[in-house]
Amino acid sequence: MILILLGPPGAGKGTQAQALMVARGLVQLSTGDMLRKAVAAKSELGLGARAAMDAGDLVSDDIVISIIAERIENKDCERGFILDGFPRTVAQAEALDLMLEQKGSQLDHVIEIRVDEEELVKRIAGRFSCAKCNENYHDTFKRPAKDGVCDVCGGTEFTRRSDDRAETVRARLEAYRNQTAPLLPYYRAKGTLRSVDGMNSIEAVTEEILEVLAT
Ligand code: AP5
Ligand code: MG
Ligand code: ZN
Repeated sequence: MILILLGPPGAGKGTQAQALMVARGLVQLSTGDMLRKAVAAKSELGLGARAAMDAGDLVSDDIVISIIAERIENKDCERGFILDGFPRTVAQAEALDLMLEQKGSQLDHVIEIRVDEEELVKRIAGRFSCAKCNENYHDTFKRPAKDGVCDVCGGTEFTRRSDDRAETVRARLEAYRNQTAPLLPYYRAKGTLRSVDGMNSIEAVTEEILEVLAT
């Protein structure tokens, strides 16, 4: 199964991709995570992407398209995958259509996670993750069972994303409105788009997505 999770920054794409990985055994392909790793490793790719990411702008289509084109050839993608944060422009969506066509596969579902802007800002401001295993948390909505200790790996160090500062978040929301929201009519016209209410609890959103996948 090939699935796209579409939604603004903080909507819960990463959170839901993780839940679906567990529920359905699909791999999560997050271009944001891949780019952050490249930046941390100071690779050529990371050096090229960093300025755009720090400003809350999109990285160039060429860069992200080539990352995904290479990644989906991996063996772990054979049974399908969840795209989290890709495509983000119409050019990326068209490139994806072509890649899948050449592989003889096709997109099963595009799921839009809808969340009000005020809520997005709260979610991003409270987000942190485990420095060791990358598990995602939130100051209010998803705290570790024991304060200061990661539920998954027992790690005690946590990090916050450098692009989660208020002014960068504003730029990311604007990039979503201007460059990514046009994908909604693009996929609606193809008949693959379904929307879920992302304002509900994490578990309720997962349930609603699983219902969509079952249809
Ligand atoms: P990326 O990493 O994709 O960031 P984003 O789209 O801004 O989305 P986020 O990761 O911030 O949010 P999310 O929807 O995953 O929410 P999460 O699950 O964490 O991209 C970063 C940058 O990389 C971009 O700005 C761009 O520069 C570049 N980039 C990446 N892909 C690109 C591409 N294709 N083309 C060009 N450039 C690209 O949830 C947020 C918080 O809320 C968490 O703390 C979570 O615990 C909590 N939460 C989640 N769901 C709920 C819920 N239902 N109720 C309560 N709390 C919840
Ligand atoms: Mg994410
Ligand atoms: Zn951890």
